[in-house]
Amino acid sequence: MDLLVVGSGFFGLTIAERAAASDRKVTVIDRRPHIGGNAYSEDEPNTGIEVHRYGAHLFHTSNPGVWEYVNRFTTFTDYVHRVYTNHKGVVYPLPINLGTINQFFNAAYSPDGARALVQELAGEFDAKDAANLEEKGIALIGRPLYEAFIRDYTAKQWQTDPKNLPAEVISRLPVRYNYDNRYFNDTWEGLPTDGYTAWLERMADHPNIEVKLDTDFFDESQPLNKGTTVGQLPIVYTGPVDRYFDYTEGALSWRTLDFEQEVLEVADFQGTPVMNYADADVPYTRIHEFKHFHPERADRYPTDRTVIMREFSRFASREDEPYYPVNTAEDRNGLLAYRELAKSEKDVLFGGRLGTYQYLDMHMAIGSALSMWNNQLQ
Ligand code: FDA
Repeated sequence: MDLLVVGSGFFGLTIAERAAASDRKVTVIDRRPHIGGNAYSEDEPNTGIEVHRYGAHLFHTSNPGVWEYVNRFTTFTDYVHRVYTNHKGVVYPLPINLGTINQFFNAAYSPDGARALVQELAGEFDAKDAANLEEKGIALIGRPLYEAFIRDYTAKQWQTDPKNLPAEVISRLPVRYNYDNRYFNDTWEGLPTDGYTAWLERMADHPNIEVKLDTDFFDESQPLNKGTTVGQLPIVYTGPVDRYFDYTEGALSWRTLDFEQEVLEVADFQGTPVMNYADADVPYTRIHEFKHFHPERADRYPTDRTVIMREFSRFASREDEPYYPVNTAEDRNGLLAYRELAKSEKDVLFGGRLGTYQYLDMHMAIGSALSMWNNQLQ
């Protein structure tokens, strides 16, 4: 074996695929029973509808190198992501755009008219002086839109009143002064035609790659553990950086999600893939309805059933899946200390969202793995 990769998410698989293509023998271990990390998806057994096990995953990128690379393993549908939100029983388009504003104020503002209105409403606070997230939100889009679409949703995401969250949590709140409600504005966007798992399996499908599932790097009873491998061969580690160093500099904080999945005996539950719930009286943040991610599969998906998934957000304990870095000042100091420790760890490179403690979209995880391969490993 020439290289050990810990973690079979997009970061680890990109490294493994590049190494295998350069004639290196690679072993990939993952503590989960499946490959693919958080991008893993599977067909719900009763309906055959593809469900994204760790939350909805939409692929989008403006990076030509990444787009060329991912197209070696999958084709993409022409899916374009759009999100709606339910506020007080009325459904509005997101991100906040001219359609949202006119529906909310029951008006017909022109782009300039809406811009002037938001500017006037936002005058209540200066963004520079905002003492907390609430003041920052109001300074960016004005109190009415902030209170309707941001305040309670953010409170649910963070289990914290936005008055008690730091202003830096949001840098901007995009408002579009036209009716464009495409969620992403990247050059390329789509979903893998035959699903995420088929794509991920094709990346790992090489005679030079061996994948070992249910294998935890910190489990001393399995042969490829930290104690037996570090210093013996190059390792790319994509698990949590604080866990690697036994939390000596403190545990970095994360938010996690709980998912509640249900098969319903209706053809169509909400008419769209993702519906957010903006208000405090609904405990979940959003509902996904997976059949809408693949309208082109209408002939093989059932017409009398659908799969929905309610998403709840909360702070993660050590036992939970870490999803979004909280990134407090304490976390940032801890991360700097871990980065110093990582520098002196012989032949171990830290990558991916857990290994670097940052939120990475899939195209960013793949792009940074390609860079690590080209600049540090090749
Ligand atoms: P990832 O977490 O996928 O993989 C790490 C792997 O390491 C895991 O399989 C884990 O089991 C393994 N591991 C950890 N510790 C280990 C140990 N001790 N021993 C062995 N293995 C270990 N992106 C996007 O582009 N569009 C989207 O719509 C979304 N949506 C989205 C929703 C939600 C809820 C989340 C949390 C994330 C997204 N993402 C996303 C981001 C996407 O999931 C992310 O880019 C990839 O998961 C990053 O891949 P990594 O390989 O870095 O980590």
